[in-house]
Amino acid sequence: MTYLLGIDVSTTATKALVLDARGAVVGVASSRYDLATPKPLWAEQDPELWWQATCASVRQVLADTAIDPTAVAAIGLTGQMHGLVLCDEAGDVLRPAILWNDQRAAKQCAAMRQHLGLAELVRITGNDAFPGFTAPKLLWVRQHEPDVYSRIRQVLLPKDYVRYRLTGDYATDRAGAGGTLMLDLVQRDWSTQLLDAFDIPHQWLPPTHEGTQITGHISALAAEHTGLATGTPVVGGGGDQAAQGVGVGAVETGVVALTLGTSGVVFAASDRPLVEPAGRLHAFPHAVPETWHVMGVMLSAAGSLRWYRDVVAPGVEFETLMAEADTVEPGAEGLIFQPYLSGERTPHADPEARGAFVGLTLKHSRAHLTRAVLEGVACGLRDNLTMMADVGLTDVSEVRISGGGARSPVWRQIVADLLGVDLVTIQATEGAALGAGLLAGVGANVWPSVADACREAVQLGSVTRPDAERSDRYQTMYDKFRAHYPALKRLYR
Ligand code: XUL
Repeated sequence: MTYLLGIDVSTTATKALVLDARGAVVGVASSRYDLATPKPLWAEQDPELWWQATCASVRQVLADTAIDPTAVAAIGLTGQMHGLVLCDEAGDVLRPAILWNDQRAAKQCAAMRQHLGLAELVRITGNDAFPGFTAPKLLWVRQHEPDVYSRIRQVLLPKDYVRYRLTGDYATDRAGAGGTLMLDLVQRDWSTQLLDAFDIPHQWLPPTHEGTQITGHISALAAEHTGLATGTPVVGGGGDQAAQGVGVGAVETGVVALTLGTSGVVFAASDRPLVEPAGRLHAFPHAVPETWHVMGVMLSAAGSLRWYRDVVAPGVEFETLMAEADTVEPGAEGLIFQPYLSGERTPHADPEARGAFVGLTLKHSRAHLTRAVLEGVACGLRDNLTMMADVGLTDVSEVRISGGGARSPVWRQIVADLLGVDLVTIQATEGAALGAGLLAGVGANVWPSVADACREAVQLGSVTRPDAERSDRYQTMYDKFRAHYPALKRLYR
């Protein structure tokens, strides 16, 4: 038998998933860790946590599945994107990693925009500067920790630190590299112009590889720690969003993946780079060779509903709230919710944006409030999809929905009606780890292409179709929703 291993170095845990050569998951193990917030807006993790968790999860999944480690044909890596890991000459970590959700580098973002010009930044990288991205955080270290900066010899992403511990090689994948703000989006490699403009030494960055390319092999030392076989190939893999895209089969133009988790992600594969002129959507290479993806991220999607439940209806089951919301007409009788409880990333790159219920009257009940939350989140998803259509994603053939919120038929129907598209449910509990395993399978010639791997492995579920009459009624509500943020924005300052 041939097996593949996907490793996902996420923000909360490192997961190891084994699949067989038909794409069926045979085992998953997970080891959790915490995130440190030494100051407000900071988010850090010691890379050693990832390595220890990788060793524990891999050992666990090998034990649970009782597979022979030599039967693992290849390993794929994925993980949290944008994190900054700094190593010295000896490969030792210089300071805790600064993570994707760290907000300290806002000034460095402004400086990058000003120095290069937003248009040029977007032309090269496809993106605006976000504090979570890697380059602004590197510039923050230069300014605030010059001693650390002077000892840097290697800059890595979180999963590439684990790759280094597994193989002894410095390497990265192009999908993850896109999230550093140092990559030339079209060339799919580090941008000399950008690195020179910000005086970042080229030799600090590892070679880039496509997601299915082999970047190294398990070292004897790593084999000892993990139980894997020495010499097992490790492929490029991808950032967690690109790998999740593979895990749900969003690997061809026209297939959109929508994740209704704590955050909400709208992800579309494309055969050419699609760039929003002001960089408001994220545009990165895909983990599928020679393709790209465009992505919108809402910070509080199902997270809005959880907050609402915990505050307004503590202890009440989500199913109960959903059933109540289903008794209310679309539009919640004029009540509109703005889902910006943690600020927002796309379409409004605004950390100061706030949540709001607009239009409350004595008539409104808990059922209306719930429905408004579900609809407000769906409106945010529509904002992202609309922006993608504006940059050229015109033929959306299918939207694949996953994440905790997608389990509710009431919410799925609202999203389908608001987006006006068919939604196909996908079971993707560990979608990113699965995607990494599929990329490994292509690297090991188990499948001829990523699309073939997805056709075999991705299980499609039920279809939710929009109702034409409700979709029409939602148009007026959506127009109002769109008008609220610009009107409220100045009050948040
Ligand atoms: C993607 C992003 C998150 C992190 C953490 O842009 O910021 O998905 O990768 O999971």
